[in-house]
Amino acid sequence: MTTKTITAPFVSTFILLRVVSAISFSRIQLPGNASGPEALAFELGTEHFFTGIVDGRILKYQGPTAGFIDFGFAAPNRSKSVCDGTSLADMNPTCGRPVGMALHHQTKRLYVCDAFFGFGVSGPEGGPVTILSTMADGEPYRFCNGVDVHQPTGNVYFTDASAVYDIRQFKTAASVNDSTGRLLKYDVENKRVTVLLRNLSYPGGVAVDEEEQFVLVSEFFGNRTWKIQLRGNKPEESDIVNTRPMPDNIKKAGVDDFWIAAARIDRRTRPSLLPIGARINASGHLIKTVHLKQWYGNILVSEVQEFDGKLYIASEFVDFIGVYEN
Ligand SMILES: *[C@@H]1O[C@H](CO)[C@@H](O)[C@H](O)[C@H]1NC(C)=O
Ligand SMILES: *[C@@H]1O[C@H](CO)[C@@H](O)[C@H](O)[C@H]1NC(C)=O
Ligand SMILES: *[C@@H]1O[C@H](CO)[C@@H](O)[C@H](O)[C@H]1NC(C)=O
Ligand SMILES: *[C@@H]1O[C@H](CO)[C@@H](O)[C@H](O)[C@H]1NC(C)=O
Ligand SMILES: *[C@@H]1O[C@H](CO)[C@@H](O)[C@H](O)[C@H]1NC(C)=O
Ligand SMILES: *[C@@H]1O[C@H](CO)[C@@H](O)[C@H](O)[C@H]1NC(C)=O
Repeated sequence: MTTKTITAPFVSTFILLRVVSAISFSRIQLPGNASGPEALAFELGTEHFFTGIVDGRILKYQGPTAGFIDFGFAAPNRSKSVCDGTSLADMNPTCGRPVGMALHHQTKRLYVCDAFFGFGVSGPEGGPVTILSTMADGEPYRFCNGVDVHQPTGNVYFTDASAVYDIRQFKTAASVNDSTGRLLKYDVENKRVTVLLRNLSYPGGVAVDEEEQFVLVSEFFGNRTWKIQLRGNKPEESDIVNTRPMPDNIKKAGVDDFWIAAARIDRRTRPSLLPIGARINASGHLIKTVHLKQWYGNILVSEVQEFDGKLYIASEFVDFIGVYEN
Protein backbone atom coordinates (compact mmCIF):
# COMPACT_ATOMS: atom_id res chain seq x y z
CA MET A 1 0.00 0.00 0.00
CA THR A 2 1.55 3.28 -1.04
CA THR A 3 0.00 6.50 0.12
CA LYS A 4 1.35 9.64 -1.43
CA THR A 5 0.73 12.83 0.47
CA ILE A 6 0.75 16.27 -1.02
CA THR A 7 0.42 19.17 1.36
CA ALA A 8 -0.63 22.49 -0.02
CA PRO A 9 -0.26 25.37 2.41
CA PHE A 10 -2.14 28.49 1.42
CA VAL A 11 -0.42 31.64 2.52
CA SER A 12 -2.35 34.86 2.74
CA THR A 13 -0.99 37.53 0.44
CA PHE A 14 -2.12 40.28 2.78
CA ILE A 15 -0.60 39.17 6.04
CA LEU A 16 2.98 38.05 5.76
CA LEU A 17 3.46 34.32 6.29
CA ARG A 18 0.12 33.84 7.96
CA VAL A 19 -0.93 30.27 7.19
CA VAL A 20 -4.68 30.40 6.68
CA SER A 21 -5.33 26.72 6.23
CA ALA A 22 -3.50 23.56 5.31
CA ILE A 23 -5.14 21.14 2.92
CA SER A 24 -3.75 17.67 2.64
CA PHE A 25 -4.54 15.17 -0.07
CA SER A 26 -3.44 11.55 -0.17
CA ARG A 27 -4.19 8.60 -2.40
CA ILE A 28 -5.28 5.11 -1.45
CA GLN A 29 -3.91 3.22 -4.43
CA LEU A 30 -6.08 0.41 -5.81
CA PRO A 31 -4.38 -2.98 -6.37
CA GLY A 32 -2.52 -3.57 -9.63
CA ASN A 33 -4.84 -3.54 -12.69
CA ALA A 34 -7.81 -2.23 -10.74
CA SER A 35 -9.30 1.09 -11.85
CA GLY A 36 -12.45 3.16 -11.92
CA PRO A 37 -13.87 3.23 -8.38
CA GLU A 38 -17.31 4.81 -8.88
CA ALA A 39 -18.83 4.77 -5.41
CA LEU A 40 -17.92 4.01 -1.80
CA ALA A 41 -19.84 2.28 0.98
CA PHE A 42 -18.28 2.46 4.45
CA GLU A 43 -18.71 -0.03 7.24
CA LEU A 44 -20.16 1.56 10.33
CA GLY A 45 -17.53 3.46 12.29
CA THR A 46 -14.46 2.09 10.48
CA GLU A 47 -12.28 3.30 7.63
CA HIS A 48 -13.14 0.04 5.82
CA PHE A 49 -15.15 0.53 2.65
CA PHE A 50 -16.43 -1.24 -0.45
CA THR A 51 -15.99 0.03 -3.98
CA GLY A 52 -16.87 -1.26 -7.47
CA ILE A 53 -14.32 -1.14 -10.28
CA VAL A 54 -14.33 -1.21 -14.09
CA ASP A 55 -13.48 -4.92 -14.42
CA GLY A 56 -16.61 -5.94 -12.51
CA ARG A 57 -15.15 -6.63 -9.08
CA ILE A 58 -16.34 -5.23 -5.78
CA LEU A 59 -13.27 -4.60 -3.64
CA LYS A 60 -13.17 -4.16 0.11
CA TYR A 61 -10.58 -1.89 1.70
CA GLN A 62 -9.51 -3.11 5.14
CA GLY A 63 -7.17 -0.34 6.19
CA PRO A 64 -3.61 0.67 5.24
CA THR A 65 -1.94 -2.57 6.34
CA ALA A 66 -4.37 -5.17 4.96
CA GLY A 67 -5.24 -3.11 1.87
CA PHE A 68 -7.85 -4.39 -0.59
CA ILE A 69 -9.40 -7.82 -1.00
CA ASP A 70 -11.68 -9.12 -3.76
CA PHE A 71 -15.11 -9.06 -2.09
CA GLY A 72 -17.68 -9.85 -4.74
CA PHE A 73 -19.12 -9.36 -8.23
CA ALA A 74 -22.55 -9.17 -9.84
CA ALA A 75 -21.93 -10.84 -13.21
CA PRO A 76 -23.49 -14.31 -12.85
CA ASN A 77 -20.73 -16.06 -14.79
CA ARG A 78 -17.74 -13.84 -14.18
CA SER A 79 -14.42 -15.36 -15.21
CA LYS A 80 -11.45 -13.98 -13.26
CA SER A 81 -9.00 -14.86 -16.00
CA VAL A 82 -11.06 -13.09 -18.66
CA CYS A 83 -12.17 -10.13 -16.57
CA ASP A 84 -9.59 -9.14 -13.94
CA GLY A 85 -7.69 -6.07 -15.03
CA THR A 86 -9.96 -5.04 -17.90
CA SER A 87 -10.00 -1.27 -18.26
CA LEU A 88 -12.44 1.38 -19.43
CA ALA A 89 -11.20 0.96 -23.02
CA ASP A 90 -11.93 -2.78 -23.13
CA MET A 91 -14.92 -2.93 -20.79
CA ASN A 92 -16.62 -6.32 -21.08
CA PRO A 93 -20.35 -6.52 -20.24
CA THR A 94 -20.08 -10.18 -19.24
CA CYS A 95 -17.72 -9.09 -16.42
CA GLY A 96 -20.28 -6.71 -14.93
CA ARG A 97 -19.68 -3.17 -13.76
CA PRO A 98 -20.69 -2.43 -10.14
CA VAL A 99 -21.31 1.28 -9.69
CA GLY A 100 -23.56 2.56 -6.89
CA MET A 101 -23.51 0.75 -3.56
CA ALA A 102 -24.76 1.21 -0.02
CA LEU A 103 -24.44 -0.91 3.11
CA HIS A 104 -27.35 -1.59 5.45
CA HIS A 105 -25.43 -1.58 8.71
CA GLN A 106 -27.82 -3.62 10.85
CA THR A 107 -28.01 -6.57 8.44
CA LYS A 108 -24.61 -6.03 6.74
CA ARG A 109 -26.38 -6.32 3.41
CA LEU A 110 -24.51 -4.52 0.65
CA TYR A 111 -26.93 -3.25 -2.01
CA VAL A 112 -25.35 -2.81 -5.41
CA CYS A 113 -26.29 -1.37 -8.78
CA ASP A 114 -24.43 -3.17 -11.53
CA ALA A 115 -24.55 -1.20 -14.78
CA PHE A 116 -25.09 -4.39 -16.80
CA PHE A 117 -26.86 -6.75 -14.39
CA GLY A 118 -29.20 -4.53 -12.40
CA PHE A 119 -30.02 -4.17 -8.74
CA GLY A 120 -28.81 -6.74 -6.23
CA VAL A 121 -27.53 -7.52 -2.76
CA SER A 122 -24.54 -9.24 -1.23
CA GLY A 123 -24.22 -10.67 2.27
CA PRO A 124 -21.33 -10.10 4.72
CA GLU A 125 -19.26 -12.89 3.14
CA GLY A 126 -19.40 -11.36 -0.32
CA GLY A 127 -19.03 -13.53 -3.41
CA PRO A 128 -21.73 -13.42 -6.08
CA VAL A 129 -24.33 -10.69 -5.72
CA THR A 130 -27.93 -11.93 -5.65
CA ILE A 131 -29.78 -9.99 -8.32
CA LEU A 132 -33.07 -8.69 -6.88
CA SER A 133 -34.46 -6.73 -9.80
CA THR A 134 -33.65 -6.17 -13.47
CA MET A 135 -36.75 -4.22 -14.51
CA ALA A 136 -39.67 -2.17 -13.23
CA ASP A 137 -43.09 -1.70 -14.82
CA GLY A 138 -41.97 -4.04 -17.58
CA GLU A 139 -39.08 -1.81 -18.56
CA PRO A 140 -35.56 -3.20 -18.03
CA TYR A 141 -32.84 -1.16 -16.37
CA ARG A 142 -30.18 -0.19 -18.89
CA PHE A 143 -27.88 1.51 -16.41
CA CYS A 144 -28.63 0.83 -12.75
CA ASN A 145 -26.54 3.54 -11.15
CA GLY A 146 -27.06 5.21 -7.74
CA VAL A 147 -28.03 3.48 -4.45
CA ASP A 148 -28.84 4.53 -0.89
CA VAL A 149 -30.34 2.67 2.06
CA HIS A 150 -32.65 4.16 4.63
CA GLN A 151 -30.92 2.68 7.68
CA PRO A 152 -33.87 2.53 10.15
CA THR A 153 -36.22 0.64 7.78
CA GLY A 154 -33.78 -0.99 5.36
CA ASN A 155 -35.67 0.37 2.34
CA VAL A 156 -33.46 1.06 -0.64
CA TYR A 157 -33.64 3.90 -3.15
CA PHE A 158 -31.85 3.54 -6.45
CA THR A 159 -31.73 4.97 -9.95
CA ASP A 160 -31.64 3.70 -13.48
CA ALA A 161 -29.73 6.39 -15.39
CA SER A 162 -31.34 5.49 -18.70
CA ALA A 163 -33.97 3.12 -20.06
CA VAL A 164 -32.33 3.24 -23.49
CA TYR A 165 -28.53 3.59 -23.28
CA ASP A 166 -26.09 1.42 -21.37
CA ILE A 167 -22.88 2.64 -19.71
CA ARG A 168 -20.84 2.22 -22.92
CA GLN A 169 -23.26 4.46 -24.81
CA PHE A 170 -22.65 7.45 -22.56
CA LYS A 171 -21.66 9.76 -25.42
CA THR A 172 -24.75 8.94 -27.46
CA ALA A 173 -26.96 9.38 -24.41
CA ALA A 174 -25.32 12.78 -23.81
CA SER A 175 -25.66 13.86 -27.43
CA VAL A 176 -29.41 13.22 -27.42
CA ASN A 177 -29.82 14.60 -23.90
CA ASP A 178 -31.39 11.35 -22.80
CA SER A 179 -34.20 11.82 -20.28
CA THR A 180 -35.46 8.30 -19.75
CA GLY A 181 -33.96 7.76 -16.29
CA ARG A 182 -35.97 6.59 -13.29
CA LEU A 183 -35.95 6.86 -9.52
CA LEU A 184 -36.89 3.55 -7.88
CA LYS A 185 -37.63 2.20 -4.44
CA TYR A 186 -37.04 -1.34 -3.17
CA ASP A 187 -39.41 -2.04 -0.31
CA VAL A 188 -37.56 -4.44 1.95
CA GLU A 189 -40.79 -5.78 3.53
CA ASN A 190 -42.62 -6.89 0.40
CA LYS A 191 -39.46 -7.08 -1.74
CA ARG A 192 -41.06 -5.08 -4.52
CA VAL A 193 -39.64 -2.33 -6.66
CA THR A 194 -41.78 0.69 -7.46
CA VAL A 195 -41.07 3.58 -9.82
CA LEU A 196 -41.16 6.88 -7.95
CA LEU A 197 -40.24 9.16 -10.86
CA ARG A 198 -39.57 8.83 -14.58
CA ASN A 199 -38.23 11.04 -17.37
CA LEU A 200 -35.15 12.03 -15.41
CA SER A 201 -32.15 13.27 -17.34
CA TYR A 202 -29.49 10.70 -16.41
CA PRO A 203 -30.00 10.36 -12.66
CA GLY A 204 -26.68 9.15 -11.27
CA GLY A 205 -27.08 9.68 -7.56
CA VAL A 206 -29.67 9.36 -4.82
CA ALA A 207 -29.72 9.92 -1.06
CA VAL A 208 -32.53 9.51 1.46
CA ASP A 209 -32.81 11.51 4.68
CA GLU A 210 -32.89 10.00 8.20
CA GLU A 211 -36.67 10.38 8.52
CA GLU A 212 -37.41 8.99 5.05
CA GLN A 213 -39.28 12.19 4.29
CA PHE A 214 -37.44 13.03 1.10
CA VAL A 215 -34.78 11.87 -1.32
CA LEU A 216 -32.28 13.93 -3.22
CA VAL A 217 -31.72 12.79 -6.79
CA SER A 218 -29.22 14.20 -9.28
CA GLU A 219 -29.65 14.66 -13.03
CA PHE A 220 -26.22 14.45 -14.64
CA PHE A 221 -27.34 15.77 -18.04
CA GLY A 222 -29.99 18.03 -16.54
CA ASN A 223 -27.33 19.79 -14.40
CA ARG A 224 -29.54 19.86 -11.33
CA THR A 225 -30.29 18.05 -8.10
CA TRP A 226 -33.85 17.60 -6.92
CA LYS A 227 -35.42 17.20 -3.51
CA ILE A 228 -38.36 14.84 -3.87
CA GLN A 229 -40.92 14.66 -1.07
CA LEU A 230 -41.83 11.08 -0.17
CA ARG A 231 -44.66 11.80 2.24
CA GLY A 232 -47.49 14.23 2.52
CA ASN A 233 -46.80 16.13 -0.65
CA LYS A 234 -46.99 14.44 -3.99
CA PRO A 235 -43.70 13.48 -5.65
CA GLU A 236 -44.27 16.08 -8.32
CA GLU A 237 -44.15 18.74 -5.61
CA SER A 238 -40.41 18.83 -5.64
CA ASP A 239 -37.69 21.48 -5.64
CA ILE A 240 -34.40 21.95 -7.40
CA VAL A 241 -31.91 22.27 -4.54
CA ASN A 242 -28.67 22.58 -6.50
CA THR A 243 -27.68 23.53 -10.04
CA ARG A 244 -24.03 22.56 -10.14
CA PRO A 245 -23.36 20.92 -13.52
CA MET A 246 -23.00 17.18 -13.90
CA PRO A 247 -24.00 16.09 -10.42
CA ASP A 248 -23.31 12.42 -9.75
CA ASN A 249 -23.47 10.54 -6.42
CA ILE A 250 -24.94 12.19 -3.32
CA LYS A 251 -23.97 11.15 0.20
CA LYS A 252 -25.33 12.09 3.59
CA ALA A 253 -22.99 14.07 5.80
CA GLY A 254 -23.61 14.65 9.49
CA VAL A 255 -27.24 14.82 10.53
CA ASP A 256 -28.82 16.89 7.83
CA ASP A 257 -26.26 17.72 5.14
CA PHE A 258 -25.25 16.07 1.87
CA TRP A 259 -22.17 16.00 -0.35
CA ILE A 260 -22.75 16.10 -4.10
CA ALA A 261 -19.94 15.20 -6.51
CA ALA A 262 -20.31 17.66 -9.37
CA ALA A 263 -18.44 20.15 -11.57
CA ARG A 264 -17.92 23.84 -12.04
CA ILE A 265 -17.37 25.65 -15.30
CA ASP A 266 -14.02 27.39 -15.71
CA ARG A 267 -14.40 29.96 -18.49
CA ARG A 268 -11.00 31.55 -18.08
CA THR A 269 -9.27 29.58 -20.81
CA ARG A 270 -11.83 27.65 -22.79
CA PRO A 271 -15.09 26.27 -21.45
CA SER A 272 -13.95 23.44 -19.27
CA LEU A 273 -15.45 21.47 -16.42
CA LEU A 274 -13.56 21.03 -13.20
CA PRO A 275 -14.44 18.60 -10.40
CA ILE A 276 -15.87 19.79 -7.12
CA GLY A 277 -17.62 18.52 -4.04
CA ALA A 278 -20.58 20.64 -2.92
CA ARG A 279 -21.94 20.32 0.61
CA ILE A 280 -25.54 21.43 0.92
CA ASN A 281 -28.06 21.26 3.73
CA ALA A 282 -31.50 19.74 3.39
CA SER A 283 -32.96 22.99 2.04
CA GLY A 284 -30.30 23.21 -0.62
CA HIS A 285 -28.30 25.94 1.07
CA LEU A 286 -24.67 25.68 -0.05
CA ILE A 287 -22.49 25.09 3.00
CA LYS A 288 -19.13 24.52 1.35
CA THR A 289 -17.47 23.87 -2.00
CA VAL A 290 -14.29 21.82 -2.24
CA HIS A 291 -12.24 22.34 -5.40
CA LEU A 292 -10.45 19.23 -6.64
CA LYS A 293 -8.72 20.52 -9.77
CA GLN A 294 -5.31 20.48 -8.10
CA TRP A 295 -5.38 16.68 -7.92
CA TYR A 296 -7.79 15.68 -10.68
CA GLY A 297 -7.33 18.34 -13.36
CA ASN A 298 -10.46 18.22 -15.50
CA ILE A 299 -11.25 14.60 -14.62
CA LEU A 300 -14.73 14.42 -13.09
CA VAL A 301 -15.30 12.78 -9.75
CA SER A 302 -18.29 10.53 -9.11
CA GLU A 303 -18.48 10.58 -5.32
CA VAL A 304 -17.44 12.68 -2.34
CA GLN A 305 -18.11 11.03 0.99
CA GLU A 306 -17.22 12.25 4.45
CA PHE A 307 -15.81 9.85 7.03
CA ASP A 308 -14.01 10.75 10.25
CA GLY A 309 -13.55 14.38 9.24
CA LYS A 310 -11.98 13.51 5.88
CA LEU A 311 -13.45 13.46 2.39
CA TYR A 312 -13.05 10.22 0.44
CA ILE A 313 -13.28 10.80 -3.28
CA ALA A 314 -14.10 8.32 -6.04
CA SER A 315 -13.72 8.80 -9.77
CA GLU A 316 -14.43 6.39 -12.61
CA PHE A 317 -11.33 7.59 -14.44
CA VAL A 318 -8.54 7.00 -11.91
CA ASP A 319 -6.98 4.08 -10.03
CA PHE A 320 -7.05 5.47 -6.50
CA ILE A 321 -9.37 6.83 -3.82
CA GLY A 322 -8.54 10.41 -2.93
CA VAL A 323 -8.49 11.43 0.74
CA TYR A 324 -8.88 15.15 1.32
CA GLU A 325 -8.36 16.79 4.68
CA ASN A 326 -8.75 20.40 5.61
C1 LIG B 1 -2.16 -7.14 -14.76
O1 LIG B 1 -2.61 -7.72 -16.00
C2 LIG B 1 -1.61 -8.33 -16.75
C3 LIG B 1 -2.20 -8.77 -18.07
O2 LIG B 1 -3.59 -8.85 -18.01
C4 LIG B 1 -1.01 -9.48 -15.95
O3 LIG B 1 0.04 -10.06 -16.67
C5 LIG B 1 -0.49 -8.96 -14.61
O4 LIG B 1 -0.06 -10.04 -13.80
C6 LIG B 1 -1.57 -8.20 -13.86
N1 LIG B 1 -1.00 -7.60 -12.66
C7 LIG B 1 -1.59 -7.70 -11.47
C8 LIG B 1 -0.89 -7.02 -10.35
O5 LIG B 1 -2.66 -8.27 -11.30
C1 LIG C 1 -19.72 -18.64 -18.84
O1 LIG C 1 -18.43 -18.19 -19.26
C2 LIG C 1 -17.74 -19.12 -20.06
C3 LIG C 1 -16.33 -18.58 -20.31
O2 LIG C 1 -16.33 -17.20 -20.54
C4 LIG C 1 -18.52 -19.34 -21.35
O3 LIG C 1 -17.87 -20.27 -22.15
C5 LIG C 1 -19.93 -19.83 -21.00
O4 LIG C 1 -20.69 -19.93 -22.16
C6 LIG C 1 -20.60 -18.90 -20.04
N1 LIG C 1 -21.89 -19.40 -19.62
C7 LIG C 1 -22.97 -18.65 -19.52
C8 LIG C 1 -24.20 -19.34 -19.06
O5 LIG C 1 -22.98 -17.46 -19.79
C1 LIG D 1 -32.24 18.41 -22.08
O1 LIG D 1 -33.27 17.85 -21.29
C2 LIG D 1 -33.64 18.63 -20.21
C3 LIG D 1 -34.58 17.83 -19.34
O2 LIG D 1 -35.57 17.18 -20.10
C4 LIG D 1 -34.26 19.92 -20.75
O3 LIG D 1 -34.62 20.75 -19.66
C5 LIG D 1 -33.22 20.64 -21.62
O4 LIG D 1 -33.78 21.77 -22.21
C6 LIG D 1 -32.67 19.73 -22.71
N1 LIG D 1 -31.57 20.39 -23.34
C7 LIG D 1 -31.31 20.27 -24.64
C8 LIG D 1 -30.09 20.99 -25.11
O5 LIG D 1 -32.00 19.61 -25.38
C1 LIG E 1 -41.99 9.91 -19.66
O1 LIG E 1 -41.65 8.54 -19.75
C2 LIG E 1 -42.68 7.71 -20.22
C3 LIG E 1 -42.18 6.28 -20.21
O2 LIG E 1 -41.36 6.02 -19.12
C4 LIG E 1 -43.06 8.13 -21.62
O3 LIG E 1 -44.15 7.33 -22.06
C5 LIG E 1 -43.46 9.60 -21.63
O4 LIG E 1 -43.68 10.01 -22.95
C6 LIG E 1 -42.39 10.45 -21.03
N1 LIG E 1 -42.85 11.83 -20.90
C7 LIG E 1 -42.17 12.85 -21.35
C8 LIG E 1 -42.76 14.19 -21.11
O5 LIG E 1 -41.09 12.72 -21.93
C1 LIG F 1 -25.26 20.90 -18.64
O1 LIG F 1 -24.02 21.54 -18.51
C2 LIG F 1 -23.12 21.22 -19.53
C3 LIG F 1 -21.79 21.86 -19.18
O2 LIG F 1 -21.94 23.22 -18.99
C4 LIG F 1 -23.69 21.72 -20.86
O3 LIG F 1 -22.80 21.37 -21.91
C5 LIG F 1 -25.06 21.10 -21.09
O4 LIG F 1 -25.66 21.62 -22.26
C6 LIG F 1 -25.95 21.33 -19.92
N1 LIG F 1 -27.18 20.59 -20.10
C7 LIG F 1 -28.39 21.12 -20.02
C8 LIG F 1 -29.53 20.20 -20.20
O5 LIG F 1 -28.57 22.30 -19.80
C1 LIG G 1 -30.04 25.50 5.57
O1 LIG G 1 -29.26 26.66 5.79
C2 LIG G 1 -30.02 27.87 5.72
C3 LIG G 1 -29.04 29.03 5.88
O2 LIG G 1 -28.27 28.88 7.02
C4 LIG G 1 -31.10 27.88 6.79
O3 LIG G 1 -31.87 29.05 6.65
C5 LIG G 1 -31.97 26.64 6.64
O4 LIG G 1 -32.90 26.59 7.70
C6 LIG G 1 -31.11 25.39 6.64
N1 LIG G 1 -31.98 24.25 6.40
C7 LIG G 1 -31.96 23.16 7.16
C8 LIG G 1 -32.90 22.08 6.79
O5 LIG G 1 -31.19 23.03 8.11
